[in-house]
Amino acid sequence: MAIKIVKAEFITGATGPESYPDEGLPEIAIAGRSNVGKSSLINRLVNRKNLAKTSVTPGRTRQMNFFLVNDSLLLVDLPGYGYAKVSKDERASWGKMVSRYLTGRKPLKALVAIFDIRRDPSNEDLDLMEMVSDLSIPPIIALTKADKINRGQINRRKSEIAELLDLNPSDLVPFSAETGLGKWELWKAILERVKAGGLEDEK
Ligand code: GTP
Ligand code: MG
Repeated sequence: MAIKIVKAEFITGATGPESYPDEGLPEIAIAGRSNVGKSSLINRLVNRKNLAKTSVTPGRTRQMNFFLVNDSLLLVDLPGYGYAKVSKDERASWGKMVSRYLTGRKPLKALVAIFDIRRDPSNEDLDLMEMVSDLSIPPIIALTKADKINRGQINRRKSEIAELLDLNPSDLVPFSAETGLGKWELWKAILERVKAGGLEDEK
């Protein structure tokens, strides 16, 4: 399956429900630790170099950024967690902001949790999985930076991380924002959850 991206634009940033967009369109949240590659993954999904701002300095995205794709769905870049230099207060406000969105947002159809394929999930990664385990949407796991390891290692890491998360390896998608590996598999997983109208098949 392939979708043709005809349009991708930044809509708004929000820190709470009062500033969520009211497009009434399905939303897909993208979560993961700081610097894992959330913004890069979004850019790769929509074929845009710098729609979501990427940074070599972690912990820069402090709000939820909503990107409208093909006037049909919204990708939501959540602020990263696990950045050591963040104060206790900031950490608490992150938790509140994100859990409020994840647990209370009606149009939320899918959560893409991004992990670095080379690392074992951190405690904070596991906290996120715990937070979403009560939602009716099972997460899609993207294992990013797969360009950093070879094919054999990719398969091995996929099984190892699936086991650590107690998930089926088929729920995990190796991904690379550099090479585009996993892009269509990820779109397929997203669209299955969304079943959005107006997203054309490319062929
Ligand atoms: P915050 O918004 O700060 O939480 O970071 P983020 O998760 O949005 O990460 P971002 O996309 O800004 O990427 C962080 C760094 O990782 C950048 O230097 C990217 O170029 C690099 N990066 C992201 N994805 C990949 C990938 O698939 N492969 C490689 N090799 N590098 C990547
Ligand atoms: Mg970012």
